[in-house]
Amino acid sequence: MTTYAQAKASVLAKAPVAMTGASGFIGRALVRRLRDRDVPLRVLLRRPDPELEALGVEVVQGALDRDDSLRRLLEGATTLVHCAGAIRARRPADFTAVNETGTARLVRLAAESAARPRVLLLSSLAAREPGVSAYAASKRGGEEALLREAAGLEHFCLRLPAVYGPGDRATFGLFQQLSRGVGILPAPLTNRFSLLYISDLEKLVEHLLRQSAWSGGIAEVDDGRPGGYAWGELPEIAARQLDRRVRAVSIPRSLLWATATGSEGIAALFGQAPIWTRGKLNEFSHSDWVSRGPGPTEVEGWQPEVQLDQGLVATISWYREAGWL
Ligand SMILES: NC(=O)c1ccc[n+]([C@@H]2O[C@H](COP(=O)([O-])OP(=O)(O)OC[C@H]3O[C@@H](n4cnc5c(N)ncnc54)[C@H](OP(=O)(O)O)[C@@H]3O)[C@@H](O)[C@H]2O)c1
Repeated sequence: MTTYAQAKASVLAKAPVAMTGASGFIGRALVRRLRDRDVPLRVLLRRPDPELEALGVEVVQGALDRDDSLRRLLEGATTLVHCAGAIRARRPADFTAVNETGTARLVRLAAESAARPRVLLLSSLAAREPGVSAYAASKRGGEEALLREAAGLEHFCLRLPAVYGPGDRATFGLFQQLSRGVGILPAPLTNRFSLLYISDLEKLVEHLLRQSAWSGGIAEVDDGRPGGYAWGELPEIAARQLDRRVRAVSIPRSLLWATATGSEGIAALFGQAPIWTRGKLNEFSHSDWVSRGPGPTEVEGWQPEVQLDQGLVATISWYREAGWL
């Protein structure tokens, strides 16, 4: 008779797991976690990445708009973890091209492949409010593409809140300020949001890969703090955990709008994708980015362990040790 542990191990041993976005913040953490457990991985990379290659992954050079590379990625794969995504872009259409059209192409090719892998999509709570920004609309578009193109493939979707932790560049600026005793808050102090620490997301993905069947559901997940966090709480939590004064600085929306417009203009001059945009400001201005609970049973048995008090200290320590701070 097969034991539960053997059954779990065999689900993970079915090789290989194909992954997109492996060079990003979340993907890289997932690769480390899964390679630690000897899960065979094949990853899609746009450019060489010696660190990932040293972890023993099989690399397919390519991109979401190159069918040939996607077909190679999917060959014989039992599971596809799709975490490539554009979180910043020069133009709204660039979000669509990657997050919606790219997802549609990838899932269609997965459905057409002989292997027909099950698909895990890393989406965002932003998908709940597609009218808020071009990013949000593209993440909703990606979810709809998954449903439309899956053609009977097993699939599951995680709507993530803001994910943070060692190695993250997107939230680095905020942690940098807090570590220096200032919290510049780009949103009304009562606006609420959920968070998820990266190691808890790693555990969740591992947990999902161990499940033998996925229902096609969408799970909104978070770090387990009921009601999430209010922006106004951040400086208080940082002050308590870092044992220093942290001054909250609220900036009027008109000024935030002007700085976002300026940031877009400067980025356009240099041909870069800006981080701080009017779309991002609209996202921050939305009052409720709190996860509404995981729902689907696949998530049962996973318990997040790190809330912001611990996660903030661990993240700032990592930034210091890595020389970022
Ligand atoms: N981080 C968060 O707080 C958060 C929250 C909610 C949802 N998510 C979602 O989680 C996913 C990963 O986010 P992240 O924070 O890890 O982002 P990230 O650090 O910016 O990584 C994005 C990844 O996607 C890859 N990528 C982008 N465009 C691509 C294309 N056209 N073809 C192939 N690969 C492409 C990037 O490759 P290169 O290295 O070549 O650029 C990189 O590996 C995204 O889908 C994001 O929307 C993230």
